[in-house]
Amino acid sequence: MSLSEQVRDGIAREMAKYPKKRGALLPALHLAQAELGHISVETAKELAEVFEIRPIDVMEVVSFYNMFYDRPQGRHHVYVCTNLPCSLRGARTLMRGIEARLGIEAGETTADGRITLGHEECLGACAYAPMLRVGGTYHEDLDLEKAMQILDGLE
Ligand code: FES
Repeated sequence: MSLSEQVRDGIAREMAKYPKKRGALLPALHLAQAELGHISVETAKELAEVFEIRPIDVMEVVSFYNMFYDRPQGRHHVYVCTNLPCSLRGARTLMRGIEARLGIEAGETTADGRITLGHEECLGACAYAPMLRVGGTYHEDLDLEKAMQILDGLE
């Protein structure tokens, strides 16, 4: 799938705001991802042409920021905080349990496209560890059964 004229126009408008067009790469990635769901290698090539940079320069940005995805995503993003304070209270065990129940590993998406699972850095909820977030909603003081109740409720 390629970038629509609407997204290309939006990118051009963003570029006009910066002294060097490369400054608009982040907004361009947001626009492209909002339209296509993720930034594929093909999309990176298109953006590279627009920005007159190499596709690898685009993919480096995609892989650096966890808000950009290089592959199709599930309908729900589930992120388990596995930073040290949460890990001291069982977050890594929780993550392994969720992986086993969903049949995927962190970074993967369930076969039905329902859930993409990932690690998260500290979300400032250490006092309520272990915790995870589904989209923008925090769920705290979890054990595997509580976590699976939440995940089973996601359509
Ligand atoms: S370490 Fe998990 S919320 Fe802070």
